[in-house]
Amino acid sequence: MGKPNGHDGLSGELQVELEKLEELFTVNTEKLKQITKRFQEELEEGLQENGKNIAMYVTWVLGFPTGKEKGEFLTVDLGGTNLRICWISLTGIKDETSVEQHQFKLSDDIKTADVSKLWSFIAGSLEKFVKEQELNSSKDKLLHLGFTFSYPAIQDYIDHAILQTWTKGFEISGVEGNDVASQLRSAMAKLELPVKLVAVVNDTTGAMIASAYNDPDTIIGAIFGTGCNAAYVDKVRNIPKLKNNKEISKLDPDTPMAINCEYGAFDNARRVLPITKYDSQIDEQSPKPGEQMFEKMSAGLYLGELFRLVIVDLHFRGLFLKDRDIAKLKKPYSIDTSILSTIEDDYSKDLSKTAEMFKKDYNVEFSKAELNFGRRLAQLIAIRGARMCACGIAAICQKQGITRGHVAADGSVANKHPQFKKRWADALGEILDWSEEDKKKKDLSGDDDEQVGPIILTSAEDGSGVGAAVIAAMTLERWKKGVDAGIKES
Ligand code: BGC
Repeated sequence: MGKPNGHDGLSGELQVELEKLEELFTVNTEKLKQITKRFQEELEEGLQENGKNIAMYVTWVLGFPTGKEKGEFLTVDLGGTNLRICWISLTGIKDETSVEQHQFKLSDDIKTADVSKLWSFIAGSLEKFVKEQELNSSKDKLLHLGFTFSYPAIQDYIDHAILQTWTKGFEISGVEGNDVASQLRSAMAKLELPVKLVAVVNDTTGAMIASAYNDPDTIIGAIFGTGCNAAYVDKVRNIPKLKNNKEISKLDPDTPMAINCEYGAFDNARRVLPITKYDSQIDEQSPKPGEQMFEKMSAGLYLGELFRLVIVDLHFRGLFLKDRDIAKLKKPYSIDTSILSTIEDDYSKDLSKTAEMFKKDYNVEFSKAELNFGRRLAQLIAIRGARMCACGIAAICQKQGITRGHVAADGSVANKHPQFKKRWADALGEILDWSEEDKKKKDLSGDDDEQVGPIILTSAEDGSGVGAAVIAAMTLERWKKGVDAGIKES
C-alpha cells in the first residue's frame, strides 16, 4: 500500500521520492567542511607540482593594480554565446573608465568548428570593430589588446597560453595543446590588423583585477556562471613548482602573483564530492567525461540539465508526468539553468507562471502536485550548487588566512539567481565558523543590503573588458620599468 498524500498534494510514491532527493542533494555543514578541507589540499598540491588536478596556473599578473593605470586598449572575450570586443579608456581615476563595445553572436557551430574558422571569425570581428570605431593606428602605433580566454591554459608568459582542455561544452579541434595567443596573432596578421596582443587573461583574474582597480578590499575574483572558477593573489615564494623557472627567478620571492586556480576540476578523483547518479550521467554524456567534476555539480551550464535528468528519470519510472508526452523535455540541455530561477521566483498563486512556462515551452501540463515537486527540486539543486560554490572560496580563504574582504563575483548564476548570494553566504559562514556577531556584520559595498558577514560577494566590475585592459596596462608599465618576467613578445 502506498503512502497517503503529502502536504503538497504529492502522491505517496512521489513524497517518498522527494524525501530521497532531499537526502541526496542536501550537503550538511560537516560535509561542507570535509569538502573544503580536501579542496585546500588540492589547491596546495597544485602549487607544489605541475600536472596536479587543480592546476593553479600562474598568470604573470603581478599583484593588484594601483587604480592609477591609464591608456587605451582593445579587448576581446570569447564567451559561451558571444564574442565581445571593447575599446576601453582607462583614466586612472575611480569610476571614470569608458567602454565602447560590440557583441558578435557566436553561431552554434562555432563551438564545434575547426581551429581556422574560430580564429578567422575572431580576427574578422576585430577588423570590423576597429573600422567601425575608427580607431587610429599605424604600423608604428599598434593598438594594444587584452584577450580574455576563459579555459584552462598554461601561461609560461602573460602573452602566451597553451590550452589544456576545452571546458563548458566547447570542442573546437586543433586548439588543445596549442598557444592560443600565437593562433590569434597569425589570424590577425593575415588581415594585417595593426594590433599587438599584450596579455591573455582568464575571466576570474579579469574580474579580480577590474574590481580591485576601484575597490582595494577585493581579495578574490570568482565566476559562478556557465563554468566556475576563482583567482587570488599569492606570493611567488609560495609556488614551489616554479622554483627552477627562468622567468620566476627574475622576481623577488615576495612578489605577488595572481593565480588562476582552475578549480572546476576539483575532486575529479571523486573522493569527497557528493556525486549522485544524475551528476554521473551529466559527466558520462559530456564531451569530456571525468573532467571538471566540481564544475559539473555547481555551474550554470549543468544545473538545469540536472533538473531535467531527475524529472525524466521519474517519468520513466512511472512516477512523474504520467501519461503525458514529454518529447521536448527528453532533449538534453533543453532546460536552461535560468528556468530554476524562474521557478523559485514564482510567487503567483498555484505556481501558475511555472505551469504556463512548461505548457508553452515544453508542451507539458504539470499538475499542482508536480509543480510543487518541481519547485522543491529546483531549490534542492540550486541550494546544493550555491553551497558547493562556497567551499572553493572558503578553501582559498583558509589557505591564505583571509578573514575579511570582497569576493568579486561574476557570472549568470551569481547575478541572476535570486537566492544564490544568501545561500552562498550562509554556507561560507558555516564552513568558516562565523560567530553570530560576524554573521550580522553589514558591509554596504555589496549591492544588496541582505549580504552580511566579514567576507561578501561584490558584483565584479567588467572583468573581460576593463579587467583585460587594466592587466594590459600593468603589463606594459612593468615592461617599461624593465620588469620583463613572464612577458614574451612585448
Ligand atoms: C574554465 C575557467 C573559467 C571558468 C568560468 C571554466 O570552465 O575552465 O577557465 O574561469 O569556466 O568561466
